[in-house]
Amino acid sequence: MKFETPAKTNPIDNLKVVGQPIHRIDGELKTTGRAMYAYEWHDPNMRYAYGYPLGSAIAKGRIKSMDVAAVQKSPGVLSVVTTLSVGDLGKGKLNTAKLFGGDKIEHYHQAIAVVVAETFEQARAAASLIQVDYQEESAAFDLAAAKGSAVKPKDAGGAPPDSAVGDFDGAFKSAAVSFDGTYTTPDQSHAMMEPHASIAAWDDDELTVWTSSQMIDWWRSDLAATLGMEKEKIHLMSPFIGGGFGGKLFLRSDAVLAALAAKAAGRPVKVALPRPFIANNTTHRPATIQRIRIGAQRDGKITAIGHESWSGDLPGGGLETAAMQTRLLYAGENRMTAMRLAELNLPEGNAMRAPGEAPGLMALEIAIDEMAEKLGIDPIEFRIVNDTQVDPENPERPFSHRNLIGCLKLGAERFGWSERKQPGLRREGNWLVGLGVAAGFRNNLVMPSGARVRLAGDGVVTVETDMTDIGTGSYTIIAQTAAEMMGVTVEKVGVHLGDSRFPVSAGSGGQFGANSATSGVYAACIKLREAVAKKLGFNSNDVVFENGQVRSGNRSVALAEAAGSDGLVGEDTMEWGDLTDTHQQSTFSGHFVEVGVDAATGETRIRRMLAVCAAGRIINPITARSQVIGAMTMGAGLALSEELAVDTRHGFFVNHDLAGYEVPVHADIPHQDVIFMDETDPMSSPMKAKGIGELGLCGVSAAIANAIYNATGVRVRHYPITLDKVI
Ligand code: MOS
Repeated sequence: MKFETPAKTNPIDNLKVVGQPIHRIDGELKTTGRAMYAYEWHDPNMRYAYGYPLGSAIAKGRIKSMDVAAVQKSPGVLSVVTTLSVGDLGKGKLNTAKLFGGDKIEHYHQAIAVVVAETFEQARAAASLIQVDYQEESAAFDLAAAKGSAVKPKDAGGAPPDSAVGDFDGAFKSAAVSFDGTYTTPDQSHAMMEPHASIAAWDDDELTVWTSSQMIDWWRSDLAATLGMEKEKIHLMSPFIGGGFGGKLFLRSDAVLAALAAKAAGRPVKVALPRPFIANNTTHRPATIQRIRIGAQRDGKITAIGHESWSGDLPGGGLETAAMQTRLLYAGENRMTAMRLAELNLPEGNAMRAPGEAPGLMALEIAIDEMAEKLGIDPIEFRIVNDTQVDPENPERPFSHRNLIGCLKLGAERFGWSERKQPGLRREGNWLVGLGVAAGFRNNLVMPSGARVRLAGDGVVTVETDMTDIGTGSYTIIAQTAAEMMGVTVEKVGVHLGDSRFPVSAGSGGQFGANSATSGVYAACIKLREAVAKKLGFNSNDVVFENGQVRSGNRSVALAEAAGSDGLVGEDTMEWGDLTDTHQQSTFSGHFVEVGVDAATGETRIRRMLAVCAAGRIINPITARSQVIGAMTMGAGLALSEELAVDTRHGFFVNHDLAGYEVPVHADIPHQDVIFMDETDPMSSPMKAKGIGELGLCGVSAAIANAIYNATGVRVRHYPITLDKVI
């Protein structure tokens, strides 16, 4: 089905099940430990062996030789596969660096061997006995040092790296009030709870992999390309995922190592990447340097806005697109953005939750706060004055729906913004207390998404799609969608996800998952409804599915009966035209934060947080709220503690575990609240919904930075805002 805008009234609008605060249908499986995560998969008929990886100890160069003699004599060892012994493997289309195979080293902790043994401990002990002789080459690891040699790449995530409207330089120079500030964000790690893990089993030339993947079909294609085999011979399963945040968008080494190890050992093999391996072996969000210039009239109207960003990546890699939102967020006649890419030999940089916008807004939304202060205008008022209902670079393109002002106004009222004082003026005991605000912005992407829906003779509806649930609630909102479409309760719907035998879905990424995948289920349900109507000889135009019955005119038949003993099936894929041709589709939020900063130590404690989100129809307010509070928590981490520390001599992330890479814990987050604006966006999909999972993060860290400034009068432009920078 091709989506035609605007979406017409359809069964989803009944909102009997969709839009209801239904608890996760997989919640009980998860809380009782019965949800099977990748490494836990267990078939009693299989004799699993255990693989343990070895990573490169240099960042760039080649391997001259590897001595595995001691490994082979080590207890329990079944086989050793090295990057030299497998020779030259292929590379996945979406991988920047090769995951395995050959003598070339492109980054630290690149996988160079996997040892297979009867037990995990035996494999780990034996892996430490491998002797490697490297030839090291000089390399670049420091973004600040490499910034001068950064180049303009061809592409910025599908868009041009530069944009220019009007005369930015002239307008900036002649502005009544102007601001010029440079900000930095560090390398960041996804730090998901479940590490990357895979179990591989071969049956002749067919491969089955249980893994932890956000994107089943991308992984299947790239695993086939890496191993040089037919995609159709790979069966991939990832029914439960313990978090991804973008770190599991692309095939990683665990799946490749498990497949090769299982082949070598002639047994099914389990490989989990050890926690200290993840930061350097997998992807991370690249550090940025961002310069923002704003010129305005005394009344606060922006006349010039410029955003430049620098980031680095391996050869062949891409930008962190941190200036993108500045093309769309505020009005202003004269504008420029430019993004530059430096070659660095750190591990592969790639998408982490709200790639582009998250670090971009960490800078832009402090700059807006700084500019408002220079102008002597309340920062909420400054944002309202510069709101735009059209794409400021292409004024003939309106936003499909944009209620940033509503988010900011409602948030201000609920949060008690009027109590905000001038910087440094509110003190409670040892605490300097401040309030901060930031706008949140994230584009609304869509992806083709397929599903198959079955109606069985017992009236049960079963959905099959390769969509994933990375902790987001996909199972639940898909069940709600099918229930609404087929006129049954959620209890009558079964949902099966994360299996490459099912129709290819949008997968989980870019906050496109919920809206796209439910739209795919909608399309399949339309097909199933047609099949039911046809079988009963009903007119498909006036047929109603309600209360487990299907009705047309004065005839009504139970769904179970309609299905018959053979059942009925509907399958389809939701396809999209270019929805952004006529309308800009984005999501918006206002983030409000109250912090206390210890007057003596400079330690920041977040006291209250509020997010007000405008993101189309909310399919399930419980799972959506959970997405936003999780994102706000991540924003707190990015503001206050998260930073991969780079060893600029040897090119690796030093704090490569959860002891050194500090993410927030419950005690860091005392109170969070989330409000959803009551809206629908018929331009976005038949669901009239949009993404929320990344929007929840965008702007949060800047709101915290702005609250710290309001508390202390100290402006920190370099994340994370640790106490040494505040004092
Ligand atoms: Mo998201 S960074 O596209 O998983």
